[in-house]
Amino acid sequence: MQVERVQALSHGGLHELPAQFIRPAHERPENSKAIEGMTVPVISLLLPHDELVHELSKACSEWGVFLMTDYGISASLIPRLQTAGQEFFNLPPEEKESYANDPSTGNFEGYGTKITKNLEEKVEWIDYFFHLMSPPSKVNYEIWPKNPPSYREVTEEFNVEILRVTDKLLELFSQGLGLEGKILKSSLGSEEIELEMKINMYPPCPQPELALGVEPHTDISALTILAPNDVSGLQVWKDGHWVAVNYLPNALFVHVGDQLEVLSNGKYRSVLHRSLVNKERTRMSWAIFCVPPAEAIIGPLPDLLDDKNPAKYSTTTYAEFRYRKFNKIPQ
Ligand code: SIN
Ligand code: FE2
Repeated sequence: MQVERVQALSHGGLHELPAQFIRPAHERPENSKAIEGMTVPVISLLLPHDELVHELSKACSEWGVFLMTDYGISASLIPRLQTAGQEFFNLPPEEKESYANDPSTGNFEGYGTKITKNLEEKVEWIDYFFHLMSPPSKVNYEIWPKNPPSYREVTEEFNVEILRVTDKLLELFSQGLGLEGKILKSSLGSEEIELEMKINMYPPCPQPELALGVEPHTDISALTILAPNDVSGLQVWKDGHWVAVNYLPNALFVHVGDQLEVLSNGKYRSVLHRSLVNKERTRMSWAIFCVPPAEAIIGPLPDLLDDKNPAKYSTTTYAEFRYRKFNKIPQ
């Protein structure tokens, strides 16, 4: 079945938002505006070690999100990655469709757009491309865009850098929990940790005040690193308000996901977030999800538990956690 792509809808020059994208009144950005005057922490990885551990731990506990600067990725790599992703979405529809995914089979890899199952259901104003990026032994490179031809090379180069940055963050986060640096990585399956790439593409929307790019959610990952283009749209939930996370040149956004919340027994918060869309400009973001392998057993780290600090989460495989979350079964 041919899926109606949001990009094609947008390109057709709509003046009114089709009904399946119109959110119920309380969810609409026009009725749930971000609060002014609050900003998400910005943390340079070049801070002295103890200060860095402290700042990261504070951000993960209080916000579950921060903007990261000075992470040591060459300045040209992210723009090259972003150009490759944009070029994919600029391909003719027929070519993109040859990568169409089939979520009904449980396989999200490839080019995708959510579709409504009934008239009441609302969908998000977004098309995406999703694929596993690491470890190479599990990656199906056949599903990666072959066009532009640079896609694979630049994405593999980026993968090496992101593996280095996630290792570093997991080490610092472990230390922020008062634990030995290796503990989080080894609890997440060590060398088998997976990185998934999701390119989010939000085309111009005729009535952005009525729509959402992505509904409020927490990420199921351990952590997510997001490289946005220069069109802002991400909002995070903090103390009963939405807070806009504005674009900051050269900063990457880091989200604490559900697996870190569980491992830290709730000290680090999996941040609730959503994204808004724009009337004139295409917003894009490159989200890298750092996830354990399906069979990893994730639960609160025993070193954090004692009589006064009982486990607040159950211990299950990542596969079971994922199944329950997608099927809305309490964990
Ligand atoms: C997401 O959280 O799924 C997307 C966030 C973004 O595009 O900023
Ligand atoms: Fe997310």
